[in-house]
Order: sequence, then structure tokens, then C-alpha cells
Amino acid sequence: MLLAFADERALALKLAAELRCELAMVVEHRFPDGEIKLTLPPSLPGHVLLLRGLQQPNERLVQLLLTAKTARRLGAKRLTLASPYLAYMRQDIEFNPGEAISQRIVAGFLGELFERVVTIDPHLHRIASLDEVMPGSRGIALAAAPLLGEWVASQWPAGKGPLLVGPDEEAEQWVRAAGEATGLAGVVCRKTRHGDREVDVELPPIDLMGREVVLIDDVASTGHTLVQAAQALRARGVAAIDAAVVHALFDAPAVERLHAAGIRRIWSTDAVPHASNVVTVAPLLARAIADCD
Ligand code: R5P
Repeated sequence: MLLAFADERALALKLAAELRCELAMVVEHRFPDGEIKLTLPPSLPGHVLLLRGLQQPNERLVQLLLTAKTARRLGAKRLTLASPYLAYMRQDIEFNPGEAISQRIVAGFLGELFERVVTIDPHLHRIASLDEVMPGSRGIALAAAPLLGEWVASQWPAGKGPLLVGPDEEAEQWVRAAGEATGLAGVVCRKTRHGDREVDVELPPIDLMGREVVLIDDVASTGHTLVQAAQALRARGVAAIDAAVVHALFDAPAVERLHAAGIRRIWSTDAVPHASNVVTVAPLLARAIADCD
């Protein structure tokens, strides 16, 4: 049985169809003081799959705690979490003394609640695999960047594809994966972050005049990383800029901000529901979940 929440129903329906399994919704009641009450189907099979992405993570981590503990009480012996976006992966070291290393804490918490955690392009920078923070092969990291690359390539006539540009060094892995799937060439920029909304992006020293480019990243949130990259690209005389991200975490003004910076089209996967979704991750998730059985 697949359990899901109402705001992820669209992806849940696709996933249930791929897995040919029953879909049931977790019903949430929100009390005036902010507490929540969750209601699951009263009787559950031995294996339950829960779909819950961790965008707006603080609230959803509590949902996961309540759902997992309740599912066990109601009969689930094996719990798999499909969390297309896994939050808190970026705080992977103590940047300043006293800071919580959120990646380890959150991954450890999920590893205790679920036998398996399946996710997509988690932001792993200083660690090589989820095993380092979720021991025992509990974490399965899938790659949607190749699917995004294929979507990008399909928007141009064969042999006339754009240049892929990663806005920072960490994006090299997604540019490479998208490039390997499509044959599109790619480069990465260097980013310096000064604050949540202040970043500088430096382009590599190559001739970009008249080129069509697509910015590729795992996550966009405020959009400032893509905006700075777009401004640098325009200063180099590119002909057109589009952007493709795996996880569209965009805050409300982000899309407007991106268009104002000269980004023509914005594409994303449905790992996070957003108006820019053009590629579904349902078959990717379903294959990995079926392989775990
Ligand atoms: C961080 O390195 C990520 O890959 C993204 O580049 C970053 O999280 C984007 O954030 P924002 O859209 O707020 O600049």
C-alpha cells in the first residue's frame, strides 16, 4: 500500500499506477495552535510505502514521525519512505563552531523510522554516498539529472543542443550526468555565497558569444544562484538562457526574479510539485522501489 498526503496526490497517483498498488491518503487535521492530527487507514498491510518529500521540512519531519510510528502500530512490519526531495543535506559540516550538522541528524532520524529511504539527487557534497549518514544501505539515491538532460535535449533539433552550465562547482555532478545521457557539453561556474540571498557567480573563461545555454542545478530556492549566473551569462553575450532544476523549491517571487534576469524558460521534475514541472520521476522511483522488494 502507498500512503500519501493530499498535496502530493498527483505524483502519488502516478507512482501507484507504476507500482500497481493501492493508494490511501493520510488525512491531516490542523489544530488552531499548530499541532496536527494524522489519520491513517485503520488496518495496514505488512509493507507500507510512504510518499513524502521534505520541502518545507520542519513540519514534514513531524508528519514522518507520527505516520511511521502509527503505521507500525497499525500492522506495518516494513516501512519504505519515498522522499523525492531530501532536505537538510546541505548542512553537512560544522561551518562555524557549535552548529548542528543537520545532514547527519536528519538522515539518522529517518534511518531509525524507515527500513528504506528512497530519494532523488540528494545534495551530497562532502560525502560520497548516503551510506555515510544512513548506514546499512538504508538510503537509496536516484539520479533524475539524466531525465532532465533528455528533456532539455528534446527542446532543440538533433545536433543543435545548448551548452549546459552548472552555476557552481557542486553542480558539476548534475551537469555531467545530464551530459552523459545526452551528449550535451557542459561547464561549471564558481560560486561564492555571502548570505542566504547574496551570491557571486564567476563563469569559466570560454567564449559564450551567441551560444544558447541551459543552467542546470539540483535545487533552486530563492533563485539568486540562477539569477547571478544568468547575469554573468548575459554579460558574455549568450543568445538565450533557460534553466532546468531537479527540485523546484522556488519561493513565491523566485520565478518572476528568474524571468527578470533574462531566463526564458524554467523546467523542473515533479520531485517537488510546481508549475514548472515537465519531467515525472514516478517511473524512476517505482523501479527503485520494486527492486528493493
Ligand atoms: C547549493 O549549492 C544548491 O545547489 C543551489 O545552488 C542552491 O541551494 C540554490 O539556492 P538559491 O536558489 O536560494 O540561490
